[in-house]
Amino acid sequence: MAAYSELVIEHFEHPRNAGELEAPDGEATTANPVCGDRMRVMLRVADDRIAEVRWQTRGCPPAIATSSFASEMVRGWSLDQVEALTREHIAEAIGGLPRDKVHCSVLAADALRAAVADYRQRAAGSP
Ligand code: FES
Repeated sequence: MAAYSELVIEHFEHPRNAGELEAPDGEATTANPVCGDRMRVMLRVADDRIAEVRWQTRGCPPAIATSSFASEMVRGWSLDQVEALTREHIAEAIGGLPRDKVHCSVLAADALRAAVADYRQRAAGSP
């Protein structure tokens, strides 16, 4: 895995926040349009900020690593900040990805934004 940054390798070998979140405030599952790999994200939200993230990803090593990395990165972020998150942002923050693997970070960015959208929809629907 010489082409990967130390952060990518570290998060792939020791993923953080993987698993289930009971009764999440928002959740979403997205698939990577390039390869079909999937990520499910579950969020706990408090005061319009991300309090907790759990994820389950079926994908390649950079998809696992960026899922783990992003789950730590967005903790404490406002919902607006997460909505502005891009795959390039994640790829850059994790120390870069090989050119043919940059698309792998789309899973974490898309799934986190979709989970926030789900949270907003639930919040709008509650009395
Ligand atoms: Fe599918 Fe990386 S090859 S996310």
